[in-house]
Amino acid sequence: MRRKITVLPGDGIGKEVTRGAVEILETVAERYGHEFEFQYGEIGGQAIDNTGSPLPEQTIETCKNSDAVLLGAVGGPKWDNQPSHLRPERGLLKIRKELNLYANLRPISYYSSLSESSPLRKEIIEEVDFVIVRELTGGLYFGKPSERTTHDGKEAVVDTLFYQKDEMQRIIELAFELASKRRKKVTSVDKANVLESSRLWRETAEEIAERYPEVELEHMLVDNAAMQLIRNPRQFDVVVTENMFGDILSDEASVLTGSLGMLPSASISTQGPNLYEPIHGSAPDIAGKNIANPIAAILSAASMLRLSFGMEVEAEAIEKAVGETLDSGSRTGDIAEGQVRTLTTTEMVAEIKGAILDQE
Ligand code: NAI
Ligand code: MG
Repeated sequence: MRRKITVLPGDGIGKEVTRGAVEILETVAERYGHEFEFQYGEIGGQAIDNTGSPLPEQTIETCKNSDAVLLGAVGGPKWDNQPSHLRPERGLLKIRKELNLYANLRPISYYSSLSESSPLRKEIIEEVDFVIVRELTGGLYFGKPSERTTHDGKEAVVDTLFYQKDEMQRIIELAFELASKRRKKVTSVDKANVLESSRLWRETAEEIAERYPEVELEHMLVDNAAMQLIRNPRQFDVVVTENMFGDILSDEASVLTGSLGMLPSASISTQGPNLYEPIHGSAPDIAGKNIANPIAAILSAASMLRLSFGMEVEAEAIEKAVGETLDSGSRTGDIAEGQVRTLTTTEMVAEIKGAILDQE
């Protein structure tokens, strides 16, 4: 299969980890007889320095003219005091909007060899394997009005939680599609005891559930969900929720299974290419030292193969290689925990590459 992939390395360790992920994609292409064409674009601080904009038009065009996008990370102290239109994060928000990335998927899964790097006991996190599906372009973060105002002569403020029903439908449908290929359970998280928007969300979920008789639908209030994620995370398969609840719960869930450097994400578009990125930032404290963990970026590339290209076998080959590499004791510094020798970024990439080539 021939596929065009846009790579946006961005700033700091974004450059180092995307280089590793590209190498793994090249390995998969070679091993499974695919042709991946890589094209590069600028985003974030580095784009500001070179073009005066955190997301140049050229980058948007390049992304739209490709089958999938792989992003590193943006930002760094160098740009922290810039006016807001010249901040690297602007590039991130803008690319999500330009590509209509309405859903953010965060898989949370357990690696037995890393159980010591979670703050929770092994018995609780063992076998954890679920995906959080967060709505990304609606809700409280985008609703208007959102402003300072006065009410009864007093200082006041308003934010608006606004959704159109079709925005709820498409994200909940995506969750059911995912669940139908997994353990067949959707947990829809809302606050239906208080919010009208949540009551429509719940109704919508019930309607969609009728079309997926093989998938179990469960509703959970968001405060309870926050507790259940810590008490018994194994109960979840696919969790779907609106933008702000998803923002909070996905950060909470990300600590269950260890380091930031391990966790991938996928953002799904209504049309056009999806975008895949590690959830970590540009890590200025370790940038340029070749010690960043490339696994989050590599697992993001695996998600790309699965979700954008339908290459399930290839995606599993990468995930399995990562698991084997960790099982063999290979660690970068962030997950080392008393390890005698830790690997550099490039050494870790080489080990994972070797594990892919060694598979039957
Ligand atoms: P961060 O995720 O960059 O770093 C947090 C801590 O985790 C640091 O100690 C870092 O060294 C470590 N870490 C992160 N990824 C790692 C990896 N792959 N391997 C080993 N260690 C890793 O978050 P922080 O420090 O809050 O933000 C740094 C910059 O990144 C800021 O400018 C921020 O705005 C930006 N950022 C960008 C994001 C994006 O592009 N999606 C997301 C989060 C932050
Ligand atoms: Mg967040």
